[in-house]
Amino acid sequence: MEGFNELQREILRLKAEKNALVLAHYYVPLEVQDVADAVCDSFAMAQKAARAENDIIVICGVRFMGESAKILSPGKTVLLPSLDAGCPMADMVTPEDVMRLRDEHPGAKVMCYVNSSAAVKAVSDVCCTSSSALRIARELDCEEIIFVPDKHLGSFVASKVPEKKFWLHDGFCPTHHRVREADVLAALRAHPGAVFAVHPECGEDVVKHGDLVGSTAEILDFARKTEAREIIIGTEGEIVARLRRELPEKGIYGVGSAFMCVNMKKVTLQALYECLRDEKYKVELPEEELRAARRSLDKMVNS
Ligand code: 13P
Ligand code: SF4
Repeated sequence: MEGFNELQREILRLKAEKNALVLAHYYVPLEVQDVADAVCDSFAMAQKAARAENDIIVICGVRFMGESAKILSPGKTVLLPSLDAGCPMADMVTPEDVMRLRDEHPGAKVMCYVNSSAAVKAVSDVCCTSSSALRIARELDCEEIIFVPDKHLGSFVASKVPEKKFWLHDGFCPTHHRVREADVLAALRAHPGAVFAVHPECGEDVVKHGDLVGSTAEILDFARKTEAREIIIGTEGEIVARLRRELPEKGIYGVGSAFMCVNMKKVTLQALYECLRDEKYKVELPEEELRAARRSLDKMVNS
């Protein structure tokens, strides 16, 4: 347990005592990532939750991630350290929006980004993450796709899958929405030898400059493997911090002022400690919603 502070050691002790699996998203604070069993992007988190053998799964992330883990592993106790860590983008679409879009575009299939509520997943045909969206859109057996809620990821997928017609909902991630093209161009001017890795939740004017457009894990992988000595990162600030720690020999730069997902930062060490100690907060979902949402999530993790 060398190198850990007192609270981290207590978390590791509770984790072992309760045989709990702790999965952390890359956007939660690094000190929380450091005590997790696995640090994941949204896709890996769903896969690991689906295959978990532990009785307790702790999801260090936002609410929809906890819901997805519960849907995929309904027999397990799924805990969220912070009850009010939500995702504003997930809240931008309702099941009623999906039903209205279905009425407007009969014949289209509904693909929902994993950043959505269980109720929205329950009325969708298939779910995707940023790392699986292109593959799932290409494989989906239809000519038209309704994509909810992220208009930015949706338009990126539409640009890469021109053989299909896309109908986009108008949601967006308030964190990635703050990356401005002017700041990307300024960073590229300041570091002329640098490559730019960007998340598809950013706007099209930003994404079009990307040498790599990919999920959180894909951005990390690209930064580790590229021969470029300087990398500009167009995603959440914790990724910049993680890469600076991991690759001190490379120049890692954010875009503009560092931008953070305030909800992911609610998952603190103290919250994780109390979560394990008191076995709170349990994710519970209505049985019918759970079963319906599972169809679209199962297709995602098994595709
Ligand atoms: P990924 O982990 O799939 O890259 O998603 C990023 C994100 O915004 C999660 O909320
Ligand atoms: Fe939601 Fe954006 Fe935060 Fe991800 S980064 S949880 S999409 S608000």
